Amino acid sequence: MRLLRSHLLLLLLASSAAGSLLRTVPEEPSTISSGGGGGGGGDALYCDSWRLSVETNDAGPWTRIPARCIAFVDEYMNGERYASDSEVIAGEALAFAEAVEVAGDGKDVWVFDVDETLLSNLPYYAANGYGSQDFNETSFDEWVYLSKAPALSASLKLYTELQALGFHMVLLTGRAEVQRNATEQNLLFAGYGSWTQLILRIIKEGLAFVHRLDQLFFLLSQFSGICQRAEIRVKHGGL
Ligand SMILES: *[C@@H]1O[C@H](CO)[C@@H](O)[C@H](O)[C@H]1NC(C)=O
Ligand SMILES: *[C@@H]1O[C@H](CO)[C@@H](O)[C@H](O)[C@H]1NC(C)=O
Repeated sequence: MRLLRSHLLLLLLASSAAGSLLRTVPEEPSTISSGGGGGGGGDALYCDSWRLSVETNDAGPWTRIPARCIAFVDEYMNGERYASDSEVIAGEALAFAEAVEVAGDGKDVWVFDVDETLLSNLPYYAANGYGSQDFNETSFDEWVYLSKAPALSASLKLYTELQALGFHMVLLTGRAEVQRNATEQNLLFAGYGSWTQLILRIIKEGLAFVHRLDQLFFLLSQFSGICQRAEIRVKHGGL
């Protein structure tokens, strides 16, 4: 059996939950009726199917959640389900981490996304229609500069457990470099600490965001040959 000395895992809770759900968007098919049980039961069925289509990336690019799904998203995010989904995924990640032989030489790194992974922007989205409105970068940035986003609790627990196992934390985010201070303050406010590196986006060209992948790859090149894998994961992560 060959064991890699270094390990990279992009924990992309964001792409399976709130990140995609709240930041991006498809046209609303009108073929599923909204009949059914009380409290918009038909909507709940439709919205659950829509969520699956987003998570499997079948929905393609989208910009707003369907209006009929606002209550569904509210209930998903604030009820037990989102916390439970997060805990299950974090538990699976931890099981993987525990199976890794950490060398203790500082070369075992774990890469976390920030928004909707370490930090939850749910308070912002709750005040802005749960993603049913077009994403407003100005008001979202105002929220970012408050540095008051709470931790996603399953992630904070996982983060702490990974550190106890000996992993070093690398944080990779689509937030801009000018938001470094606000992001660091927010991470500390939420209970995170002792990360090895926080990598932010530095160049904005029209609508295309260029991320500081060179920095990530430089960092990873100091570890073993996993850049190829990192590149693939990063691309899939849509960062
Ligand atoms: C976006 O947010 C800013 C700041 O809160 C606000 O002034 C502006 O009107 C918003 N834009 C839209 C299109 O709602
Ligand atoms: C970030 O914080 C540092 C240290 O507190 C400060 O020197 C620097 O001016 C801040 N940068 C921005 C862009 O606010």
